Formats: sequence, C-alpha cells, structure tokens
Amino acid sequence: MRADIAELFELDPTLTHLNHGAFGAVPRSVRQAQDRARARIEAAPMRAFRDELPAALQAAREAATRFIGVPAGSTALVRNVTEAVGVVLQGLDVGPGDEVLVSNHGYLTAGWSAEARGATLRTATFGVDDEPADVVAAFVAAVTERTRLVVIDQVTSPTAIVLPVAQVAAAVAPVPVLVDAAHVPGAVPGLDVEALGVAFWAGNLHKWSYTPRAAATLWVAPAHRAAMRPLVTSWAHGLPFPERFDLQGTVDHSAWVSVPDGLAAWADLGGWEQVARNAELLLRGADHVATALGTESPHGGIPAAPCLRLVALPDGVATTTDAAEELWQRLSAAGLVVPPVAFDGRGYLRLAAAPYNDEDDYARLAAALPSVLAGLPACAATGGRPA
Ligand SMILES: Cc1ncc(COP(=O)(O)O)c(C=O)c1O
Repeated sequence: MRADIAELFELDPTLTHLNHGAFGAVPRSVRQAQDRARARIEAAPMRAFRDELPAALQAAREAATRFIGVPAGSTALVRNVTEAVGVVLQGLDVGPGDEVLVSNHGYLTAGWSAEARGATLRTATFGVDDEPADVVAAFVAAVTERTRLVVIDQVTSPTAIVLPVAQVAAAVAPVPVLVDAAHVPGAVPGLDVEALGVAFWAGNLHKWSYTPRAAATLWVAPAHRAAMRPLVTSWAHGLPFPERFDLQGTVDHSAWVSVPDGLAAWADLGGWEQVARNAELLLRGADHVATALGTESPHGGIPAAPCLRLVALPDGVATTTDAAEELWQRLSAAGLVVPPVAFDGRGYLRLAAAPYNDEDDYARLAAALPSVLAGLPACAATGGRPA
C-alpha cells in the first residue's frame, strides 16, 4: 500500500487490498465525522430528529446531487443501489405478468427483487469480448411487449466493463431503463446522467466516493418522480420527491449526514486526478499479474472500467462459482483480497485500483499466485505454476 495515502484509511496493513469496488473503504477523517454525527444525535435524540436532521439531510442530499452533476430536486438519497432497485420496482408497480430485462453481466440485485414481486426475468446475453453493438442487439432481442423495465449496469460487477447505456436506452425506447451505476459516482469521469436518456439512475457513494456506508443516490427522470416512494414511508406522507426520502423513520442517519465529508475526502484524495492515476496503475498492475499468469485481460470492443479490470486465470481455473469460491478462500488465507470471477465458463481475477494501492500490491499478488494456485485441479499437472 502507498504509505502516505494508506495512513488516511484504517485498512489492515497485513492484507493486500485489491477489491475496493466491493464495499469501498471509509477514510479515517470520514469515519470520525460520522462518529461526531452519531455523538451529536446521542447527546439529544429529540433535538436531533426534530430540529437538526431535516436540514442536515437536505444538505447531504443536495451535496450528493451536485456531486453527480444533476439538477436540484432530481435525486433522492437511498441506502444503496439494492434499495434503489426496490424503490423503482415498487414505483412502477412491477408484478405478475410483467417482464424485467437484465443482462448476464448484471448484479443479482435487480433480478431477485423483480422475481420477488412476481415478475418474470429475461436476460440479454453477450460476451465479455463483444462489441458495444452486440450489447445493444442483445438487449433489443430480449425486449417483448411485456417488458416493464430494462436494468443495465453502467459498470458491470463480474466483468468490469462500461456498457453503452445511452445506445441501449435509445434502442429499447419507450421501455424505461434503470441504470445500475453502483461503481460510477466518483469513479467514471465525464458523467452526464441526463444525457443518457434513461428513466432511473442509481449510484453508490460508499464505493468510490468515500462516504460512509450506506449512502447512495437515485436520480429519477421528471415523468416518474411522482410515483417514487421510499420503501419505508414512516414520515414521508405528503412530501414531494425527493424530500420524501429524507426521513424514513427511526434509523441511523449518521452515514447520510456525513455524505458531504465523504465527498470532501474524495476531492482531498485528488478527485479526478486520482481516478486517472488509479486507472494507469490498474493497467500496469493488471499487466503484471497477467504476465505472471501467462494470460491477459480480455480485450473486446467494450471499454474496461477505469477502476476495475479482469485478468484471465489459466485455463480451467475458477471456471465455476464453486471453484471461484475455493480460490477466494485460498487467496484470503494468503492475505490477498481479490475476487475470482467465473464468467461464461472462464475464470478471472477482478482487480481494483484505489488511491491507497501501489504497484507493490499487484507485484505481491503476482508473486503469490503460483503457490495459491498450486494444487487446484487445473494447475496440479504443472506443479502449481499456471498451465
Ligand atoms: C453493479 C452492482 N450493482 C449493485 C451492487 C450492490 O450494491 P449495494 O450492496 O450497495 O446495494 C453492486 C455491489 O458491488 C454492484 O457491483
């Protein structure tokens, strides 16, 4: 880890942290700000909930709205993208007889939530090496007259690619599109949410924007705002969107009121400059790991995310979910925090680059991989070295 930056975080220095994308990491200053927010609430809960939290939550929501570059009044705070998906499915009253279209690169959130509401799930299928046009064609081919919602990940979780959201939205119109942008705020530069032509866009702040967990944004196009309600409606009655999302009963509001502290930490860490630095580091790091494995990153026509990147594992390694889980256990036991991914019958490592990472992190992973892989079925014949 890069010592000067690592000391701003509270990460265990005995581990090699290469999976920032999973749950983020909260800088110490932000955790302390959240501690202060909690202490203030505990000092006088009545004063906090009645007199102070409404304004603090509004300020946090407005800071988040500015951060993702959309107009005031367009964006609610939610706890995470999972919750945002639930809000949208509820707001559209998706249910039996309806279809929700996801992709084979989608995070499990949307599919499971749609099925829980009795809707039928359909899947647009394309490969990690495909071209953007193939992605658009896959979505178009899976739309039917029953499709109520298309869910597309802007940055895919298992495969770390940036999908052509605007092109898909144009091609499936007038079906409303929900963008799962869990990895986008603070990580993907040049974002213009309104220009995507979608109905809903949900992005986590607790991954790449350095806010406490759980904090996320849900932007909603004007035509859909009136129908969107929080899943917990306790004090929301009579309030318009997005104010009706601010106070959802008696919960711990300390993460949300500390959103401005997280966004300030993002800027202090270097803002878009550090995103560019991390993207370069990730390319070098992925190259290093791929060279050690004798493999490469998949190079299709779809751009890789700046913050996440796949490196192929040797043939036959981690090609199923169970095998990926076994490899995860081995990597964890070696202090390497990096997820193996089984996708389309091939195994990969998904690497991340955060401000606290440096080349040594990837070098340590590369050096440890031969012994970590030793004994796995596909590597046994080569005495542990990748085939
Ligand atoms: C693409 C994608 N969507 C949704 C999620 C879920 O995020 P949360 O647990 O914050 O709802 C993740 C988590 O990593 C993700 O990668």
